[in-house]
Amino acid sequence: MDKVDTMQKVVVVDFGAQYGQLIARRIRDLKVYSEIVPFDISAAELKEMQPAAIILSGGPASVYLEESPHIDPEILELGIPIFGFCYGMQCVADIEGGTVEKAGKGEYGAATIKRHGDSEMLGDTPESQQVWMSHRDSVTKAPEDYAVTASTENCTIAAIENPDKKIYATQFHPEVNHTSHGSEMLRNFLFNIVGLEANWTTKNVIEQSVEAIKAQVGDEHVILALSGGVDSSVVAALLHKAIGSQLHCVFVNHGLLRKGEPESVERVFKDQFKIDLNVVDAQDRYAQKLSGITDPEKKRRIIGEEFWKVFFEEAEKLNGITYLAQGTIYPDIIESGARKTGGSSSTIKSHHNLIPFPDGVHFDLIEPLDYFFKDEVRAIGSELGLPDEIVHRQPFPGPGLAIRIIGEVTREKLDLLREADAIVREEIDAYNKENPGAVWQYFAVLPDIRSVGVMGDERTYAHPIIVRAVESQDAMTADWAKLPHELLAKISGRIVAEVEGINRVAYDITSKPPATIEWE
Ligand code: XMP
Repeated sequence: MDKVDTMQKVVVVDFGAQYGQLIARRIRDLKVYSEIVPFDISAAELKEMQPAAIILSGGPASVYLEESPHIDPEILELGIPIFGFCYGMQCVADIEGGTVEKAGKGEYGAATIKRHGDSEMLGDTPESQQVWMSHRDSVTKAPEDYAVTASTENCTIAAIENPDKKIYATQFHPEVNHTSHGSEMLRNFLFNIVGLEANWTTKNVIEQSVEAIKAQVGDEHVILALSGGVDSSVVAALLHKAIGSQLHCVFVNHGLLRKGEPESVERVFKDQFKIDLNVVDAQDRYAQKLSGITDPEKKRRIIGEEFWKVFFEEAEKLNGITYLAQGTIYPDIIESGARKTGGSSSTIKSHHNLIPFPDGVHFDLIEPLDYFFKDEVRAIGSELGLPDEIVHRQPFPGPGLAIRIIGEVTREKLDLLREADAIVREEIDAYNKENPGAVWQYFAVLPDIRSVGVMGDERTYAHPIIVRAVESQDAMTADWAKLPHELLAKISGRIVAEVEGINRVAYDITSKPPATIEWE
């Protein structure tokens, strides 16, 4: 989708390792729209994007080496205000005739800068303050016409500026929280020097997105595969606001969702939003396809392939649809390197490749969330009236409960797991309410074993349930949650009492690594 282009934007030139993502997030936190472009963008392409300001990110390379990333020097002559951090500062110094060398001693971690003279960028920040450094190279001679406005003990040139050219640069990282006045420096740059307005608010963003969707879609119709996950739900709510009855949603109930989820999708989208929701009951079809399959990757493949088959069968019943909506979000785009620049000369490697269109079937794609980070997506969802159970739900894998049943998936096992999982969620939801955000992801797993037990006078031979609950920031690493024993006892007691067919409960006390969060 065309970006929201009536808002003034800041472009972050990224030198790699996704330093740019954090900077873009920080700028958006200050309610200014910001986009990321790779370092090899030309000055002409950048000019075409009409940014109000440019940020040059940090990066791991050495600017004096030929193989290192170098920006088009003409970027500094566009007359657009520039703020460079770390490697970004070294680029400015290099282009403007200063000297960058390997410093005798690197500087990593907290450092104290002392200010020299006035600087609109440093503004009212203290004469002496803590900043965050991470560099081996340093600017050892500032370019002519640039004032040195701060230094540390190890780094005499820690900040430079040329106010006439509106170019500012720091060896330290204003974008990290450890730089105690970093956010003030960013604000000084954005609002005092560049003169931007803080107008990237959820309300404005929705308004602009609605206009952009209307302009793109016109009188055409759009189809969306609604899964009940955060991204597709927010796409549905946003498209509904923009184009109302021209939106048609397909919800495939494959029987692998958690207790209450299919009902919640119908309640929210059919009853509350009055969206044209086409529900397909594919539970038998999936059960048949999954019968006898024990390999986790095979399960994933079958579930994915079947999904698109069911979806396109349904789509073909609806005539006159032009667009297929996708819940792609900005990190998907950045991480896949799918878009080279945001300018009209963008290289968009279509996400079409990822969708197995049947022969002779074609839809144009519309991706209304493709410039938003996850927390922005959630904020948009809440503002549009989606309930917390959808907007703030814990991560749930696409293949659903199928990868939480070890071995063959059957409808009976799905019923067992669904009931046990509902108890785990209910109890830990309540605990999380008391201790906000304490547990990141929590669920039940049904292993392919049975064990002996005794209930009343009878011996049982039944399945156990494994409870998995982890703390994490981003699912890359995770620690098992140190839940209170009373809570674990309650979960265990309820599961064996309420779920017939379960006679034992175990708690997974492994972190990631070496384990993964899911069991398959
Ligand atoms: P692991 O198990 O690899 O999981 O530690 C990390 C995060 O990814 C989720 N996950 C999946 N999500 N399809 C998904 O959409 C999958 O096949 C899948 N496998 C794992 C998992 O729930 C956790 O949040």
